[in-house]
This record gives sequence, structure tokens and C-alpha cells, in this order.
Amino acid sequence: MGLLGRQCVSSANNYNRDDPSGWGPGRGFAPCGAMGTLMRAGLRQIEKRIARARNCNEALATVIEIGTMAVIPVFRGCMFLSGGVSAMSHYSISINGATRQVEAAPDTPLLWVLRDALDLPGTKYGCGVGSCGACMVQLNGVPTRSCMTPVSTVGRKQVVTIEGLSLQGDHPLQTAWQELDVPQCGYCQSGQIMTAAALLKENPNPTDADIDSAMAGNLCRCATYLRIRAGIHRAAELAGQKKGVA
Ligand code: FES
Ligand code: FES
Repeated sequence: MGLLGRQCVSSANNYNRDDPSGWGPGRGFAPCGAMGTLMRAGLRQIEKRIARARNCNEALATVIEIGTMAVIPVFRGCMFLSGGVSAMSHYSISINGATRQVEAAPDTPLLWVLRDALDLPGTKYGCGVGSCGACMVQLNGVPTRSCMTPVSTVGRKQVVTIEGLSLQGDHPLQTAWQELDVPQCGYCQSGQIMTAAALLKENPNPTDADIDSAMAGNLCRCATYLRIRAGIHRAAELAGQKKGVA
């Protein structure tokens, strides 16, 4: 099937962070039929003008002129109408106990809002398709993949990121992680800790099986799974001691 005959597609899952303009292939966009017609009309105009050009320089100048003055705006207009480019909206979001204001397209993943707009880079980009858990944050206490969460769906939910887990960085999980030297490269670890923190809130004394089940959605390419499990047990102990002291 040719490019002009394909369907319009817009998907937050395919959002390409390296291409915020929305033009790149990662956006999951291809032109619809209406746009194909407009583009063909534009190409006919280019052909006619080129036929009238007296030399190569004039022909090239014609292509550039028509390309920038006519084809690109038409193309972008069609992308907008088909949902390929979204208008910006204003959002007021509760993050780590503070209300933050952001301007973003509704389908922008929360992950990019955190990292790029709010300068909270502790939440990591791993796969971008909901498979690895590196981007895990908590929404109302529930572990949630921020790469799969459009900013428009956050609403009044309380977002907690690794930066907000403990102001001093002394959450029992963080202490246990340091004690047992859990991370290797460290890339997946903020996601691991956010999932583990939700587990310990629900279940202060998890078994190995509880841990394996709760952590199944967080992958670690360095395979630190056994140390993660030990870290969660240690954090449960530390949290119990803290409670005992209080
Ligand atoms: S980056 Fe979100 S699940 Fe992998
Ligand atoms: S510590 Fe390297 S990916 Fe988990």
C-alpha cells in the first residue's frame, strides 16, 4: 500500500520524544486520503511551475518555494484535523505534594511532562510501550507507567515520583537499597522502588511470592532481581523498626 493510501494514526504510545514536532515516524502518523488528494494537487502545481522554469536553479527555487509556502502548511493542517498534531492545553497537576502548572498536548505522556517540562528526571524512559516499568510513578498510590499515561488523564490524582518518595531520600527502601547495594547500572531502579513502595504500603511483610508477583512488571536488564527481593525484605524490617521506635 502506498504512503498516500494509508490511514491516519495518532497514538500516545508511539509518541517520539526525539521528535516533539510530531513529524517523525515514531509518532505513528501516516497521511489520510484527504491529505493524499491535497498533496497530489500540490505536486501537480510543482510540476507545472517546473515545466515553466528556464533552468535548473529556477526549478529548484520553485520546488523550495512551493514546498515551504504551500505543501507543508497543508500537510500540517491535515495532520491537525486528523489528530496527528494536538493543540496545547493547560494542566494543573499535583506532583509530590505540590501543584504544578504545565502546557502540553493532551496526549503527551506524563513521563515527558515530568522529565522535560517539570525537570523531574528521576523517572526513566525505558521502552516507551508499557513493557519495562522504568517509568513507574504512583497515581493515588497505585504504581502506574507514566509512558502510557496521557497527561490529560491525570486530573486530580496525586502523582508521586522517586523525587517525592522521601524528602531526605531516607525511605526504608532507599536505605535498604544502599545497605545491600542493590543497583548495578541503576537505570531501572527508580521504577523498581516506586513499585516496591506501593507493595509495602499494601503489604508491610511480603513473602517472596508476594514480591515476585508485585514486581513482575519491572524489568532489570542487569538482572538484580534477587537483590531487589532482598532489599524489599530489608526495607520491610526497617519500616517495622521505625514503627516500633515511634
Ligand atoms: S518506559 Fe514505560 S514501561 Fe518502559
Ligand atoms: S540495574 Fe541495570 S537495568 Fe536494573
